Amino acid sequence: MDLLHVLQTNILSIIMAIVVIILLWKYMGKQSSYGRLPPGPSPIPLLGNLLQVDLKRPDKSYMKLSKTYGSVFTVWLGSKPVVVISGYQAIKDAFVNQGEEFNGRANSAITLKLVNEHGVGLSNGQRWKTLRSFSLMSLKNLGKGCRSLEERVQEEAKSLVKAFSEYGDSTVNPKELLFHSIINLFWSIVFGRKFEYNDPEFQILYKPVYTYFDMLKSKMAMLYNISPRIVECFPGKHHELFKAIDKAKAYIREEADRRLKNLDTSNPQDYFDVFLVKMLEEKGQPETEFNYDNLFPCVWDLFAAGTETQSSTLSHACLMMIKYPDIQEKVQKEIDEVIGSNRVPTVDDRHKMPYTDAVIHEIQRSMSLAPIAFPHQMTRDTTFHSYRIPKGTTVFPLLSSVLFDPKLFKNPDQFDPENFLDDNGVFKENNGFLVFGLGKRCCLGDEMGIPRTVLFLFFTSLLQRFTFRGTKPPEEIDASVVSYFHGRLARPYTCYVKLRTPNI
Ligand code: HEM
Repeated sequence: MDLLHVLQTNILSIIMAIVVIILLWKYMGKQSSYGRLPPGPSPIPLLGNLLQVDLKRPDKSYMKLSKTYGSVFTVWLGSKPVVVISGYQAIKDAFVNQGEEFNGRANSAITLKLVNEHGVGLSNGQRWKTLRSFSLMSLKNLGKGCRSLEERVQEEAKSLVKAFSEYGDSTVNPKELLFHSIINLFWSIVFGRKFEYNDPEFQILYKPVYTYFDMLKSKMAMLYNISPRIVECFPGKHHELFKAIDKAKAYIREEADRRLKNLDTSNPQDYFDVFLVKMLEEKGQPETEFNYDNLFPCVWDLFAAGTETQSSTLSHACLMMIKYPDIQEKVQKEIDEVIGSNRVPTVDDRHKMPYTDAVIHEIQRSMSLAPIAFPHQMTRDTTFHSYRIPKGTTVFPLLSSVLFDPKLFKNPDQFDPENFLDDNGVFKENNGFLVFGLGKRCCLGDEMGIPRTVLFLFFTSLLQRFTFRGTKPPEEIDASVVSYFHGRLARPYTCYVKLRTPNI
């Protein structure tokens, strides 16, 4: 009788205890199935090493851990082990010298829901190889027979300057204008057309990209990746994102069907046309990757990977000019000497502008926008630096450990363009400039020279026309970037833009 009473009153505690025991048992089993992973701090059940990792700046925690455990170590993020590779040499050994094994891509619950391992950025194996070389080839060929990337960027930079000039004496939010402008640039590259920002068609790709990054900044993203099925039952930004993605997928399907009716296969005009031509060429081949399943993900890759990264970098660049007015003045002096005020900047100008080039590099280095790149995954069981890393293990290339390495940069912890200049003021390449990753899985945009072109032409076009001024004195301006788990973005702000020269 007594025993029954005890059981009845403590039923909830008993259920919880059983759940914890089952989870612990599964966790122990999982941990031992990984065998001898590289060393690392001892994990505790369920949480792993999460208590030792600063969730706002995990890269900083990993850099600290690498001082104790070396350049290859394991951290447990919850019940999942992650191997972190730190320092230039180890990153090169892994992602270049053993690239075949290290260049798989790890997915999260969110990315699986969005593109389900299709497209370039989140696929693996032969699919990734085929679609990556297709995207490289078709973006490279854009411009043969139609407008080049440089012309498209110059045209968009002109519209951006016009948009800024409409602010006169009132404050402006540069990030908003830059994001709109770069989304439009991708509309031009992928679909060969651009829009007014309030056009409902412009919103079809603007909305999902904007919502995606907005969600990544929130705790909801972390919770979704831990337990998607439970989080799906609750309201939140994820529903907004999935709705916007479904709308974009439907739009892209309709656009493809419309274009396929009278496509001139000998004269594709944009990335989308080139994909459709391949679809027609390989129609009927069961193994083809040029199908509707990969069409939206390939478009999504370019918009998702190329827009927030570049607009955030440019927004941060303008903030740094406000924070360091003397650097802004030096850049403007170089612009005035090399470009003047009567023509638009060109890609060739960059080689004659070492100071501006160094400033843009330093903005990217100090910002360290993707401190662990995008998570990689082992493609097979591998021995690396005498440790065994099993197939399927998630691997982080700790790019921050190189970007802030005092052996590679004179002043790694300061914003200092001298990090990319020699004693004669000549631009100095630096192997440690790993903002785009290293090896075959590095940034596809960088391999095409897209960010280099966009950042240079947008930055110089803006500083040719305007001087950026803060709403408070430079010393009071917070120019740090905003960190959210494994990503970093520009801090939002408003400022004044003072016209230097009239529009060209
Ligand atoms: C400031 C600008 C940019 C930065 C800092 C940046 C950075 C990166 C990084 C760190 C990676 C991951 C590399 C790795 O996993 O090891 C990456 C991948 C990628 N980036 Fe960029 N990126 C930028 C702009 C662009 C642009 C403009 C495009 C589009 C044309 C682009 C397309 C991609 C794609 C498709 C991938 C996935 C590549 C693959 O998995 O094979 N990125 N980027």
